[in-house]
Amino acid sequence: MLLAHLSDTHITAGILAGTPAERCYQAFKRVNALDPKPDCAVITGDLVDRGEHTEYESALQLLRMLDIPVHVIPGNHDHAPRMLEVLSDSGFVREAAAEAGRCYYRVDYPRLRLFCCDSSVPGHHSGELGSTQLAWLDSELRRDPDTPAILAMHHHPVPSGIAAMDRGVLSDAPALEGLLLNHPPLTRILIGHLHRPMAAMFAGSLLVSAPSTYRQVFLDLGGGQKGAFVDEPTGVLLHSLAGATAVTHVLPVQHSGPPIGDF
Ligand SMILES: [Fe+2]
Repeated sequence: MLLAHLSDTHITAGILAGTPAERCYQAFKRVNALDPKPDCAVITGDLVDRGEHTEYESALQLLRMLDIPVHVIPGNHDHAPRMLEVLSDSGFVREAAAEAGRCYYRVDYPRLRLFCCDSSVPGHHSGELGSTQLAWLDSELRRDPDTPAILAMHHHPVPSGIAAMDRGVLSDAPALEGLLLNHPPLTRILIGHLHRPMAAMFAGSLLVSAPSTYRQVFLDLGGGQKGAFVDEPTGVLLHSLAGATAVTHVLPVQHSGPPIGDF
């Protein structure tokens, strides 16, 4: 099974709408052109930039350009209730059964349980899953425990080393870690928010962040409190799943090109 992982599309409206939409479209075209075609795509948050209704209308049009099933979760730039209002009918998101206005849900594929979680907290840069969602996740992980599982959310539960981004770390990461350690390791934990690819171990599972399809965050490991964007290529991740194991590939979108010869 192949799963495309995209993040931080930051679709917006008004005079600055062109660049994120165009770059998102390029990323979608890159995914659509893959052969074999991925079975599904996950977008790990910050679908839009300001959580506005009109931004979600634009995002909906773009999402329809992907040729495969897409599962979307909110990030700190999103507004989960508005996202649900505009996208629910399309099937790209689903409201949590246990918490009105929050967007977490489970998707079952023949050999994969995909847990799409909502770490967004309205009005805050940082993230939190909350006790209700953690209880839901714990109970869902107990169902079909022999089927491989992937957890997707926006915020990073381990510090990245980029101080400006680590102010937005998942606040209840210790509770999530304790919960996950009571279950078999996940095949992957997929995150966004960092606007650059990163891998780390968390609760015995490999966590990977997808680059942004819009713009990347400067890798400042020197403790700078002020973040910056950098002109590095946009991209997507492709997770190739085989049973409970996976291989993760990084596919640049900007600066990418066709094969240039055999070897
Ligand atoms: Fe973002």
